[in-house]
Amino acid sequence: MTSSLKLVVGALAVVGAFSVPHAQAQNFPSKPIALVVPFAAGGPTDVVARMISAPMGKALGTTVVVENTVGAGGTIASTRVAKAPTDGHTILIHHMGMATAPALYRKLSFDPLGSYEYIGQALDVPMTMLARKDFPSANLSDLINHVKANKDKITLANAGLGAVSHLCGMLFMSTIGVDLTTVPYKGTGPAMTDLLGGQVDLLCDQTTQTVPLIRDGRVKVYGVTSARRLSALPNVPTLDEQGLKGFEVKVWHGVYAPKGTPREITEKLTLALREALTDPVVVQKMGELSSDIPSPDKISPEGLRTHLEAEIAKWGPVIRKAGVYAD
Ligand code: MLT
Repeated sequence: MTSSLKLVVGALAVVGAFSVPHAQAQNFPSKPIALVVPFAAGGPTDVVARMISAPMGKALGTTVVVENTVGAGGTIASTRVAKAPTDGHTILIHHMGMATAPALYRKLSFDPLGSYEYIGQALDVPMTMLARKDFPSANLSDLINHVKANKDKITLANAGLGAVSHLCGMLFMSTIGVDLTTVPYKGTGPAMTDLLGGQVDLLCDQTTQTVPLIRDGRVKVYGVTSARRLSALPNVPTLDEQGLKGFEVKVWHGVYAPKGTPREITEKLTLALREALTDPVVVQKMGELSSDIPSPDKISPEGLRTHLEAEIAKWGPVIRKAGVYAD
């Protein structure tokens, strides 16, 4: 090939390389979108995903299908989406586990700050400290005394290493100075099934799953993890006001697309996420569960990326100091 022909072929290849994503971006979405959830169906992340999927689909003119890709504290789903085609049809909703994974896992096959395009922050959800309904302790101080006296017999469920139930449980144990046997599940959906069945004793879980169960008296509640009491559970004191000073966990969520997804597509996804989070049904439902919808500037690529960076910087040293790792 002559050098001038090589140049022409090279130029055509470059045009081709850009024209495919551009055409895809123009036609996006051309099929249903998979919204990947890193935890089991029925749990809090799944509840949030199913709530926003319909209004997101409506805004985009397609169906958004929730797919649960579970295991390894959310890292299997994060890997799946990091490696998915960059056509915007496979996206991820994940919580702050995205920020804790680099410190918790020695080997990760994705990079929270390098493998994604950022769509926007989703919801901020407080947690509740729970026990099975027939657990003997009447209040938090009884619970702490009972747990300390029976630490070898008491089990604390979570959704795996890096799950927020795991982080909340660790914080609870370190705050009261006790080490319990932890029981990992693939989400707090199945963990809750076992708490309701009495197979495990304790669970720290998000209000998106727990508010109806607390109101119906199907679980025992010892406190909320927010700085102030929740409108959804006005009679439940915070852990802080009961003496666990500074105990605060609020679970933030974000939506991600694979790195290299064209900007035209991510912009459409961001707009759809904003529409979903201002949908009156979603706003009402989230209010009933005391979950906060972020301000519009946070439902943006920059809003999510900046928050993620800050959260990685915050959690890394805490986790390394605690010496908790997955092999
Ligand atoms: C967690 O503990 O990380 C979540 O509750 C997981 C879930 O959505 O099941």
